[in-house]
Amino acid sequence: MNSNASPRESLQLQVAPVIAIDGPSGTGKGTIAEGLAQQLGWHVLDSGALYRSLGLAATRAGLDLDDGATMGELARRLQIRFEGNRVLLDGDDVSEEIRTAEGGVRASRVAVHAQVREALMLLQRAAVRPPGLIADGRDMGSRVFPNAVLKIYLYATPEERANRRYKQLRDKGMDANMRDLIRELRERDDLDRNRTHSPLTIADGAIVIDSTALSIADVLAQVVAQAQQALANTGSISE
Ligand code: DC
Repeated sequence: MNSNASPRESLQLQVAPVIAIDGPSGTGKGTIAEGLAQQLGWHVLDSGALYRSLGLAATRAGLDLDDGATMGELARRLQIRFEGNRVLLDGDDVSEEIRTAEGGVRASRVAVHAQVREALMLLQRAAVRPPGLIADGRDMGSRVFPNAVLKIYLYATPEERANRRYKQLRDKGMDANMRDLIRELRERDDLDRNRTHSPLTIADGAIVIDSTALSIADVLAQVVAQAQQALANTGSISE
């Protein structure tokens, strides 16, 4: 546990424990978060969906995604609900629309603003509830939940991530080009790693898992083992 915890952060952990899963795009964080949540019977927070929904809301309203004050204001008013694995923006199911490559780029653009990160921080922290929360994103362990009982940083080479994305798109019968996919992933990594506010970074105490040569099942097995150990150490409920 982080000894620099603010009273508010300590209070959150009394509400329920948090496991943070961070890493660049396309490393399988979402799949691992869902798998771990099933094993533990915990809730999931897909923080990327918040940034994606904000980017979509801004585009729909014809607003400037690069204007921090406007985006911050919009983020504070964002009406977003998760229902199972559906994402509702102002009551409208946007689950598919936010998942496009363009949705990822828009999310990355609005995510650079301090005002946006501040507003979404509150939403993310409000998602903590018993018996526990698995939070997936870029700054879950470093900024939003520094007291997480376990912090995982999931990594894979851009080539391998592009390869996985390529197969997913082809399976859906969609056109894909490996060179473009690698370029897009690198661009998004650069934006997420090099922004001033809450950049993608390996949080203090995070366990780094390189999934490049591993199957989803192998990564999940490692993460589950780490979670069980962490929960046993902190005295939280665990199987
Ligand atoms: O995880 P994702 O691909 O859905 O995230 C989309 C973008 O949102 C990502 O490129 C950067 C931003 N993001 C962020 O800045 N912080 C988070 N905790 C989650 C996502």
